[in-house]
Amino acid sequence: MPITPLRPERDPHRGVFFRSWLRDPFNVASVAPSSRWLARLMATGIAADSRVVELGAGTGTLTTAILDLGVRPENLYLVEQHAEFCDVLRARFSGSRVLQIDAAALTASLGALRDNVDFVISGLPILWFDREKKAAILAESLALLKPAGKLAVSEVRSSVPGPLMLPAF
Ligand SMILES: C[S@@+](CC[C@H](N)C(=O)[O-])C[C@H]1O[C@@H](n2cnc3c(N)ncnc32)[C@H](O)[C@@H]1O
Repeated sequence: MPITPLRPERDPHRGVFFRSWLRDPFNVASVAPSSRWLARLMATGIAADSRVVELGAGTGTLTTAILDLGVRPENLYLVEQHAEFCDVLRARFSGSRVLQIDAAALTASLGALRDNVDFVISGLPILWFDREKKAAILAESLALLKPAGKLAVSEVRSSVPGPLMLPAF
């Protein structure tokens, strides 16, 4: 039986992601976009007829997984603070609204959606934020959600307990 070699996933947006991470490591918080596998896992449970707000959309890996579930592009709102990522998102997802805003100030731009969102899904590095910012993002997200709406938060953690130590050269 022929053996198919395992190839690393080729994401065409790795370059823009890495450059953004070099410029702003604590907010971008990852050297590469999420894998498609992780994105599919994160999007699990979103019904096709949902209105969804995605926080920290990056270059759109999770966005693709959400749309693959059948969510209509016009019902998907992409929140991302970096202009370079927003350019990628607008080029890739022209049917969805891309907002270049801080996720801690959602209602200033999305106030019309108040109590009308089924899902807020976050790819933000929320554990890295200070207490006030976490509280603001949570309050703003809850303000948009319907009473039975859901907030899905994922977080990437290092297994290194404490700051990453780099060897001195
Ligand atoms: C770990 S990356 C995840 C990107 C993408 N969701 C993925 O899975 O590949 C975190 C993203 O959150 C964005 N971000 C960080 N803080 C933000 C904030 N306060 N408001 C909006 N976006 C933010 C970063 O620019 C980055 O795109």
